[in-house]
Amino acid sequence: TVQETSATSPSGDSAVRNALENAPTTHARLLAWVSEVAELTQPDDLVWVDGSEAEWSRLTDEMVEAGTLVRLAEDKFPNSFAAFSDPEDVARVEEQTFICSTEERGSGPTNNWMDPEEMKATLRGLYRGSMHGRTMYVIPFVMGSLEATEPKYGVEITDSPYVVCSMRIMATIGAAVLEKMTATDAFFVEALHSVGFPLDNGQRDVPWPCNETKYIVQFPEDRAIWSYGSGYGGNALLGKKCYALRIASAIAHDEGWLAEHMLVLKMTDPGGRVHYVSGAFPSACGKTNFAMIQPTIDGWKAEMVGDDIAWMRFDESGTLRVVNPEAGLFGVAPGTGWSTNPNAMRAVAAGNTIFTNVALTDDGGVWWEGMTDEVPAHLTDWRGRDWTPASKNPAAHPNSRFCTPIKQVDILAPEYDDPDGVPLSAIIFGGRRKTTVPLVHESFDWEHGVFEGATLSSETTAAASGAVGVVRRDPMAMLPFIGYNAGDYLAHWVKLGKAHHGKMPRIFYVNWFRRDRDGGFAWPGFGENSRVLKWIIGRLDGEAGGEQTPIGVVPRPEDLDLTGLDISEQQLADALKVDVEEWRRELPGIHQWFNVLQDSLPPEMVRQYHRLEVRLEV
Ligand code: PEP
Ligand code: NA
Ligand code: MN
Repeated sequence: TVQETSATSPSGDSAVRNALENAPTTHARLLAWVSEVAELTQPDDLVWVDGSEAEWSRLTDEMVEAGTLVRLAEDKFPNSFAAFSDPEDVARVEEQTFICSTEERGSGPTNNWMDPEEMKATLRGLYRGSMHGRTMYVIPFVMGSLEATEPKYGVEITDSPYVVCSMRIMATIGAAVLEKMTATDAFFVEALHSVGFPLDNGQRDVPWPCNETKYIVQFPEDRAIWSYGSGYGGNALLGKKCYALRIASAIAHDEGWLAEHMLVLKMTDPGGRVHYVSGAFPSACGKTNFAMIQPTIDGWKAEMVGDDIAWMRFDESGTLRVVNPEAGLFGVAPGTGWSTNPNAMRAVAAGNTIFTNVALTDDGGVWWEGMTDEVPAHLTDWRGRDWTPASKNPAAHPNSRFCTPIKQVDILAPEYDDPDGVPLSAIIFGGRRKTTVPLVHESFDWEHGVFEGATLSSETTAAASGAVGVVRRDPMAMLPFIGYNAGDYLAHWVKLGKAHHGKMPRIFYVNWFRRDRDGGFAWPGFGENSRVLKWIIGRLDGEAGGEQTPIGVVPRPEDLDLTGLDISEQQLADALKVDVEEWRRELPGIHQWFNVLQDSLPPEMVRQYHRLEVRLEV
């Protein structure tokens, strides 16, 4: 039959049949699934992605030819490209994101739910013929190390070469993954993606195909992802938010571990002692900058392990160890600059990067708000329009991104890809609050720390639509990423603390954004946050003092290393203050948020709420 197909012209049905017959795998479930999807979506061609440099060159050349990518100047950003999306396809679509568990209670109350069979019927209708005129790419990938005891495999089927190249940066993909997956007949997560823009015979393509109708759907019991209509990062690079957070959190719930929206940082003190900490921050709270912090205190060294996702498991001795499952960064560009985050800037300047929705400089480079102190006199904005500093719109989209290999981060900890992960000493929650929440405090114990994570709050910023300055609750910064019932998720955190009592990391809460009495930031932030990290690590080692307050242990000014820091006594007092009246005013918001969780709210969280009331003498 191979001879028969190669005798006909290799396009359409026969090209697909040929690629299936010459598949580089004998993995039966994979082959069955790929043929089934090809039958449904009707692509013109099928490519088994091998992850090679040659493949990257071919695909990026094709995308430059098609107008999807602009090649950047080789002397500035080698082997790098800029993509410009459809103006309606610029961000994750939370209202179209579904957790389709069998029972409605298995999702919600903060997720969208639909009956899985109903959803599959809807999506099959949309996928029918959706890849016509396009190439279907099959991307074998692994999240975390291929050398892990049980590698976490996935296969993404997509009709977007932009997704193929971005996945090559964000994960380990291709031939070696497929070979090991095949040899061990391993389980893999099925991740189906189509931009939903089929081409009629002879129809011209557009630079960024997508569809007005979008669905980002997780089936937690099937461990499957079906995504339709969007080419944007979080909606289309399915290893990231959909797998490593939503599906993985459901797996972690079943298996007794945690998949979290956290950075991981390695801190080495002047004596060479190492501590690893993780941090959960809602968007626009400086998470990526914190993951790449440059300490301002003498002798301290910070290295990055991860900037977005943390998988945390207990080893045989009961130590919680953490792995960053990603191989790249998909960071928000605006606000990342040579003065605020030089480590990220050096990583992208090393090349091999795909930028999306940034502005172009006249000499073949890129620019975004906050990249340099000096604003260029002329740019081409992300919509392709002339831009000058007098233009009223930002040059780069507020959610424009850089997608760059993690290996290019020069402060990357060498053990970042250790299959066993690194031992975790502390978990830091943080939000953006003008008032109430002090610079840093330590929770009383695990259950209290879970309460603090469960009630994590942040003020909305101008970057998102809706009112600015409204306090939103975002449990563990996971609100859009919990792959099952949100109350059950909190109960899982409580349960792990009980099962591994005395072995859990300590929990801290930070707020870099508190205002002083004059309305300015009370704390300088950025590299100076290393002083807060030093206090946190001092607490772990029993060396740092603090004061018991109704919300936890807060450093007194003398407990912080303030050597060489330009901060007034008044500002410091404003940064550290715990105002009982302010905290009493905080209670109704927490109460309201807990009401959202209804009867799935764990009793331990109710207990912690009442204990807080008692400590505040309400
Ligand atoms: C994304 O949208 O792809 C993404 C990484 O989201 P966020 O930056 O909000 O975590
Ligand atoms: Na890779
Ligand atoms: Mn994130």
